[in-house]
Parts: sequence; structure tokens; C-alpha cells
Amino acid sequence: MANILHIDTSPRGERSISRSLCYEFITSWKDAHPGDTVTYRDLGHNPVPHVDESWIAAAFTPPEARPPELTEAIKLSDNLVDEFLAAERYVFGVPMYNFNIPSTFKAYIDQIVRVGRTFAFENNAYKGLVDSSKKVLVVTTRGGAFSPGTPLAAYDYQEPYLRAVFAFIGLTDVTFIYAENLNSGDDARQQSLAAAKDAIAQAVANW
Ligand SMILES: Cc1cc2nc3c(=O)[nH]c(=O)nc-3n(C[C@H](O)[C@H](O)[C@H](O)COP(=O)(O)O)c2cc1C
Repeated sequence: MANILHIDTSPRGERSISRSLCYEFITSWKDAHPGDTVTYRDLGHNPVPHVDESWIAAAFTPPEARPPELTEAIKLSDNLVDEFLAAERYVFGVPMYNFNIPSTFKAYIDQIVRVGRTFAFENNAYKGLVDSSKKVLVVTTRGGAFSPGTPLAAYDYQEPYLRAVFAFIGLTDVTFIYAENLNSGDDARQQSLAAAKDAIAQAVANW
């Protein structure tokens, strides 16, 4: 039995493809694994704040040395990290925005990548503190196409960034499902959606 942290990051509601694909994955997964639990966070509609000066001061002050105002400044981040570490699997719905992730997701990542909590700096080296057996599934939606070999492949700052930042905190088992060409005409869109749905069915069977 696993606890899955499912996060949507699109600001769109019913029109969001990443949202509906993640929903499809999660409902099929729950049918196959009724004992698993799902913790849900909707960053698209309820974003977390950007880090600010007090947050930074608190993050780099040991908990026992923090005055009450710094403890308060880092409280939400502590709760988000607790929630993150309490999960064994992660499902993230992530549109491509300007070749990268939406800023709502970046703000969340800034809140949970924390020294002493999700990574450490020891003997002059960084070390991820999240159990590397945990699995991540990213469902990404894109108006165009960025797969290897396509003209815009070098513009994909989304997958390399997410792989790097997840690996930094210890998560190296990361699977991507792409729905591309969503704004490239009906045929390309339908073809891509069908492929994404197949990939979702595969992930439900094999993840
Ligand atoms: C602000 C903004 C920036 C976008 N930037 C890109 C981009 O760089 N590359 C791309 O292929 N599509 C881009 N798109 C298109 C979205 O990735 C696409 O519409 C996707 O379906 C959005 O995800 P959603 O359906 O879950 O909301 C952008 C859309 C918006 C609103």
C-alpha cells in the first residue's frame, strides 16, 4: 500500500489536458490498487507563495536557533516537506510554459527543496535525502513537439530541469508521459492524446 502525492499545476480547470490525463491515471490506478491512498494538491488553483527573505533566513538557521518569527516563516514549507516525504509515489500534471514548468510548480519546488530536509551538504558534496526507491510520474502537456530529433528538441527545459531537481533530492526513478502537439491541429492532437492515453494504461499496469 502506497500513499501517492498527486499534484496538478495547470491553472485551467475542465479544459486542462494535464489535469484530465492525471485524473485518468489516478482513477485507473485506484481501481487496480484500492488500498493506496491519494493526497491531492491543486497548485494551479491554490498556488503556494514564493520564498521570501524571512523564508531564506529560516531555511538556513537550524530549527533550534530560530526565533518564533522565523519558525512561522518556514511553517508552510515544513508542512509541504512533511506532506512530500509522507508519499511513496508522486504524480505531477505539468503543462509546458515557455519551454519550462509553470511558475506555480517552480514556487512549490522552491518550498520543498530544503537543506537538512530533502537534501544535505556533507563533506563538500550534495546528497539527496529522499528515499531513492520512491517513484515519480510526470504527465506533461505541450502545444508543440519537443521529442528528441524534432526541430525544437533543444528548447525542452522542462524534462531536463525536472530530472535534475528530482535527482538532487534523491528521486531518480522518474517516468515522463507526454501529450504533445496539442495546439498543432486536430489530427496531431488526437494522435498525441491517443498515445498519451496508451502510455497511461501502460503506466497503470507497470509503474
Ligand atoms: C503561458 C503559456 C505558455 C506556453 N508555452 C508553451 C511552450 O513553451 N511550448 C509549448 O509547446 N506549449 C506551450 N503552451 C501551450 C500549453 O503547454 C498547452 O496548451 C497545454 O495543453 C497546457 O496544459 P493544460 O492543458 O493542462 O492546461 C503554453 C501555454 C501557455 C498558457
